[in-house]
Amino acid sequence: MKLVIATRNAHKLEEIQAIFDFQGLDVQSAFDFPEIPDVVEDADTFVGNASKKAVEVAKATGCWALADDSGLEVNALEGAPGVYSARYAGEPCSYEKNNEKLLHELSGVKNRSARFRTVIALSDPEGHVKTVEGICPGKIIDELRGTHGFGYDPLFVPEGYEQTFAELDASVKNKISHRARALRAAQDAWGKLLSSL
Ligand code: IMP
Repeated sequence: MKLVIATRNAHKLEEIQAIFDFQGLDVQSAFDFPEIPDVVEDADTFVGNASKKAVEVAKATGCWALADDSGLEVNALEGAPGVYSARYAGEPCSYEKNNEKLLHELSGVKNRSARFRTVIALSDPEGHVKTVEGICPGKIIDELRGTHGFGYDPLFVPEGYEQTFAELDASVKNKISHRARALRAAQDAWGKLLSSL
């Protein structure tokens, strides 16, 4: 049985494949199904968007599908950018413009606490879906630091560390990140089920 990872974000795909033990499953990604249109992420929760991505890709491919929806929640901004993290500075999406906007919104703000959140959804080919979640707490610094990773990584220092996600080695990010924690929860919850497919 094939499992499709419902993303065309190469960074995410790399992180998911580095963290999750797919135990002999035939794993493909949305890159292998170019005919499937991009899923419109128009739900107002991470659970809604992750579920929508997993269900649409599962139904379109006839396979099981795993999807992730993630974002950054900043306390001083009442949880923004949240589910709108990708499009925070408007369309077309740009990590650079989003980071610039975040720094602007937080200029002069003392409370820099924030968290990344990931919801992982798993859908069977009929569209029955379940979700798990992972959180990584930290803070937003006031300048970009580092070149690894993607998105808000150069501005986010995870709790217990001095370096940003973009300065830390990928192997460290893949142990402590929101996505790593969600994927470990997914492994605990669904590992047996997936290995029996
Ligand atoms: P998506 O909707 O799950 O693709 O993620 C929304 C946005 O959240 C991305 O475009 C990034 O800006 C941000 N994001 C998600 N995960 C990460 C991460 O691990 N590091 C930095 N930014 C992230």
